[in-house]
Amino acid sequence: ASKTVKLNTGAEMPTLGLGTWKSQPGAVEKAVAHALKNGYRHIDTATAYANEKEVGLGIKESGVPREEIFLTTKLNNSDQRDVEGALKRSLEALDTPYLDLWLMHWPCPMTKDGKADKEYDWLDTWKEMERVYKANPDKVKAIGVSNFSVPYLRRLLEHATVVPAVNQIELHPACMQEDIVEECKKHGIALTAYSPLGSDASPLLTNPIVEKIAKKYNVSPANILISLQANRPQVTVIPKSVTPSRIDQNAKIVDLTEEDVKELASIEKENHLRVCKPYWTGWGNIGFPDLDTRVDPG
Ligand code: A2P
Repeated sequence: ASKTVKLNTGAEMPTLGLGTWKSQPGAVEKAVAHALKNGYRHIDTATAYANEKEVGLGIKESGVPREEIFLTTKLNNSDQRDVEGALKRSLEALDTPYLDLWLMHWPCPMTKDGKADKEYDWLDTWKEMERVYKANPDKVKAIGVSNFSVPYLRRLLEHATVVPAVNQIELHPACMQEDIVEECKKHGIALTAYSPLGSDASPLLTNPIVEKIAKKYNVSPANILISLQANRPQVTVIPKSVTPSRIDQNAKIVDLTEEDVKELASIEKENHLRVCKPYWTGWGNIGFPDLDTRVDPG
């Protein structure tokens, strides 16, 4: 796998980053500092994670110069009507002059009290993100989206004047989302794989296929899951950990064979898993076909 992915802006995004969804404020500062001191150069956070301030502190604590780091945060659903204000607040919380990448977290405008804001269209949010990006090239180096399924991407591309640099989605062997990866490739949009390990208490870490391939390369199952995404062209990957030894372990990426990839991708047929279902936004399945057939909307 290559060490960086080139974005449509020309910027190089490190293939491996540290994820911070569910990283508690107390632990995330140390995790970020540890990762940066040990070679990571890409950190992913979001306003919704309520840890931007501590991520910023971790960056400072690491001593790694800001310009060597690729920093991503995300516009919160409840901030879709206040794009410019949200940027200001994220920059302040992270205590940084600029973001390398700013994503619309979900195509799901929500009110402050956590309900779907059905009077508002996320496409208007994107237009406002484009405006703010063009007006502030010193503050936002790239804009993109997250949790965009194929129909949502198509609608966006029909109206966009800026093609998103990245679409960040859930990707692991039980959720390969080839249709979205293909659509993004067609339009020069890079991807970021979140929950590459299958999130907390993941069954993927003890999956026999994953374990078998891990043994073959003499690495941990986590390394195989991270490598699977890193080996896909134009895909970056952000395993989350607050455990220093795991942060170190996760940095090892191996080159998998086509055969390994095929075998890993077959896990999905038996064991479909989606960690982050969008129903909590009140906007339904937002175009993810695998969710149409699910019985539980929880
Ligand atoms: P922790 O943060 O306590 O170290 P994902 O990136 O798919 O969201 O997965 C994150 C989950 O996987 C967290 O519970 C994290 O625990 C755990 N994790 C991270 N790295 C490893 C690893 N190398 N081995 C086992 N579990 C890991």
